[in-house]
Amino acid sequence: MDKRSLCLLLICINVCLVIWLVSVQQSPMLEAEIMADFSGSSSGSSSSSTSQPPTRGSRGGRGSRSKPNQITHQPSRSPSNNDSSLVSNHHLATPPPPSASQTPAPPGSSMHLMDLPNFVYLMDQPACDKDVQVLVLVHSAVRNIDKRRIIRQTWADRSYIDHTPLRVIFLVGGVGENAEKWQQFLGRENHLHGDLIQGNFDDAYRNMTYKHVMALKWFNEKCAHAQLLVKVDDDVFMNTPQLVKYLATPSLPEHSMLLDPDLLLCRSVNRSRVKRTFRSKWRVTYKEYPNRFYPEYCPGMAIVYAPDVVRRLFEAAQKAKYFWVDDVLITGILAEETGTKITKLKYYLEQKDVRKLLGGGADLEEPPFLFTNHAILPDESMAIWQMALDRIQRPLLTHPASSSASASSATSASKSAPEVPSANISEAQTSTGLS
Ligand SMILES: *[C@@H]1O[C@H](CO)[C@@H](O)[C@H](O)[C@H]1NC(C)=O
Ligand SMILES: *[C@@H]1O[C@H](CO)[C@@H](O)[C@H](O)[C@H]1NC(C)=O
Ligand SMILES: *[C@@H]1O[C@H](CO)[C@@H](O)[C@H](O)[C@H]1NC(C)=O
Ligand SMILES: *[C@@H]1O[C@H](CO)[C@@H](O)[C@H](O)[C@H]1NC(C)=O
Repeated sequence: MDKRSLCLLLICINVCLVIWLVSVQQSPMLEAEIMADFSGSSSGSSSSSTSQPPTRGSRGGRGSRSKPNQITHQPSRSPSNNDSSLVSNHHLATPPPPSASQTPAPPGSSMHLMDLPNFVYLMDQPACDKDVQVLVLVHSAVRNIDKRRIIRQTWADRSYIDHTPLRVIFLVGGVGENAEKWQQFLGRENHLHGDLIQGNFDDAYRNMTYKHVMALKWFNEKCAHAQLLVKVDDDVFMNTPQLVKYLATPSLPEHSMLLDPDLLLCRSVNRSRVKRTFRSKWRVTYKEYPNRFYPEYCPGMAIVYAPDVVRRLFEAAQKAKYFWVDDVLITGILAEETGTKITKLKYYLEQKDVRKLLGGGADLEEPPFLFTNHAILPDESMAIWQMALDRIQRPLLTHPASSSASASSATSASKSAPEVPSANISEAQTSTGLS
């Protein structure tokens, strides 16, 4: 071999060496990038995919009672945003670990809720079954155990609800520091009923907006196929049989109204003046909101959204500046921003109407209300529910869990709205034993 070709060979080897070196160094980098991309996008669904697969039958999908059994025996599981990670008592003594080991996710991903970078569900529920048409999310506070109990005994009674296309879940926030006892209570409550969703933001007055956006998020991720989202407060009576009737009766005007893809339905408030006095619990500073009046908005006690509206408002909320008056922000400011018009709810029961109804001076269906006003008393809830029950087919209720084999047929049967004539109001009342 002559000198020239040796030289060429050496150069060639050198070039090859350089190329090899470059490529070897780059491939781990590329891999890291791909991994980052992958985990970024997959975290978009992580909170939903880590929870239980929605494989159950129609009853279980509403938050089955069997679920909590699986929970207690996994104390050593590493922290995750698994829906049950905090239900186990072993986790209660330590502060909520879920976000600790995870790096903040980019905006738009699942771990970001408005300006909270590390949002996770401390308790979660399985996604909605296909037969869920309306998801009712009840905003509750950690300590309102009694209010949740009354709701479970009345308009969200499982022996009724499980035979309708409705599903009811309660939303709470974190218990805060030095309140681990409350976390245990919640854990037990969820163990019994399987109907709590808990976000990891503190359950505080000025954190209500997080809860509202969490409601939109959860619906989006786990129930978006449903026809409606209903958001109510835990001191409102919701006339669930009336809603079931609307869904099942195409001849009613409300039936088509509830199919409107742009629906944002509530008892709206217009030109509400912003409270500026220091005495007001609702005092808002000029920095928080500069105008004199709020835009038209839906007071948070009872709001009905179409899925498209939920999606729009959620996306807008994720980019919005935090404002603690949740209903004004979401159904006022952001609804306006996204061009969402409010549909006015025609009927609702004020306190005086509730009294009239219970005193026998009015009929349950006249007016055909969906919600009562705030601050209904437990006795009133019970009495109205008793009246409502008397209108519903008896067999359906007396054998709630009887034919689980034919559960689906029972469900579809109930979809055709039991509308049984009867209900002697005064009788219904005395039978509650409350008056
Ligand atoms: C979540 O919890 C359930 C029940 O405890 C369990 O079956 C499931 O494997 C868990 N998933 C993850 C990702 O930990
Ligand atoms: C709201 O929640 C965040 C996140 O948990 C917390 O840091 C903050 O203190 C809470 N705000 C109030 C007023 O408690
Ligand atoms: C609310 O009030 C404003 C100002 O008076 C008015 O322009 C607007 O049309 C009202 N909206 C509705 C829906 O009545
Ligand atoms: C309702 O019950 C009361 C008392 O039991 C009775 O007097 C009244 O006739 C009943 N009304 C109807 C419409 O059945």
